[in-house]
Amino acid sequence: MHRCLELAQRGRGSVGINPMVGAVLVRDGKIIVEAWHREFGADHAERELIKKFDQDIRPTDVLYVNMEPCCHHGKTPPCTEVILHRGIRRVVFGMVDPNPQVAGQGISVLRAAGVEVIGPVERARCEWFNRGFVSLMRRGRPWITLKRAQTLGGRIARDDGSPLKITSQTQDAWSHRWLRSQHDVLMVGVETIIRDDPLLTVRNPNTKSDQLSPLRIVLDPKMRIQMNARILSRELAPGTVIIAGGGSLKKKEGIRKRGARVWECPLQGGLFQWRALWKILTTPQENFHGIASILTEGGAKTWQAFQASGSVDAEIVLVGSS
Ligand SMILES: NC(=O)c1ccc[n+]([C@@H]2O[C@H](COP(=O)([O-])OP(=O)(O)OC[C@H]3O[C@@H](n4cnc5c(N)ncnc54)[C@H](OP(=O)(O)O)[C@@H]3O)[C@@H](O)[C@H]2O)c1
Repeated sequence: MHRCLELAQRGRGSVGINPMVGAVLVRDGKIIVEAWHREFGADHAERELIKKFDQDIRPTDVLYVNMEPCCHHGKTPPCTEVILHRGIRRVVFGMVDPNPQVAGQGISVLRAAGVEVIGPVERARCEWFNRGFVSLMRRGRPWITLKRAQTLGGRIARDDGSPLKITSQTQDAWSHRWLRSQHDVLMVGVETIIRDDPLLTVRNPNTKSDQLSPLRIVLDPKMRIQMNARILSRELAPGTVIIAGGGSLKKKEGIRKRGARVWECPLQGGLFQWRALWKILTTPQENFHGIASILTEGGAKTWQAFQASGSVDAEIVLVGSS
């Protein structure tokens, strides 16, 4: 199951509003084939695995998958069909699929056909891993983590607003590995871009090269972002989204020409309407597959807006040594 989760993580950033799923087939205690859901609209992990494996499947072979196999026709046919068709007789799953179209029915279909189905095993770990998808299914919004760094005295910036380096290299490496790499989106308010000009990428020597940086999203209702911001460079712009409420059309056009996206969201009392924002971020369109989790890195006004909305699932404070 742990290997399934490692494989599933490779789909982060590509599977959109789908769950991240990995699967392995075990024979005589050894993994003989493995697969993962690679991209929104592509084969689910189980189907990909079975397609890859052209040998006969033995009744003692065991399929492990971190989420219950699906039993409905979505963008791809049901995984239960291909499992039964290829004669897999044992399935171990990590968690029940919270999608109401599945919700235990995949397990029932397999059991009714005589397949031995074991699970959930490592349920808490599997649900935590796919907490974004679980949140979309149960609450209709992404999972939200707030992260802030502060000095021992509680400061988050200098008095004049200039950048203040607070965290150590070890803390930075930890937050790249365990926060940035584990969310679909890195979100900041526009003032942080204006003052700090951050890159908002995953930079960690231990991160595998197939790890994508999360999508960078800036909340910028009046289009105040500076055109020379580093996240609008030719290299980073394709992974950057500006959420706008109004502002200069010419500036928006200029930003789009760089390859970044500018999406409009209605405002209420100067803030984006949360429901409208979640809808925009979780509705696939063209080459955007939607997102399931957000890491909000600041600054203070942005944290406050999220806290006041009541939609914060986890809050992380990194305290510097001075
Ligand atoms: N220590 C840390 O962890 C950390 C992290 C990040 C930043 N910072 C520091 O924080 C400072 C910036 O913080 P700040 O509080 O001044 O600004 P901020 O939070 O970076 O940006 C605030 C602005 O973003 C827009 N915005 C944010 N949330 C919004 C929402 N829900 N709806 C609509 N618009 C929204 C608004 O833009 P408009 O004003 O245009 O309406 C708002 O005034 C910088 O000095 C930076 O160095 C510290």
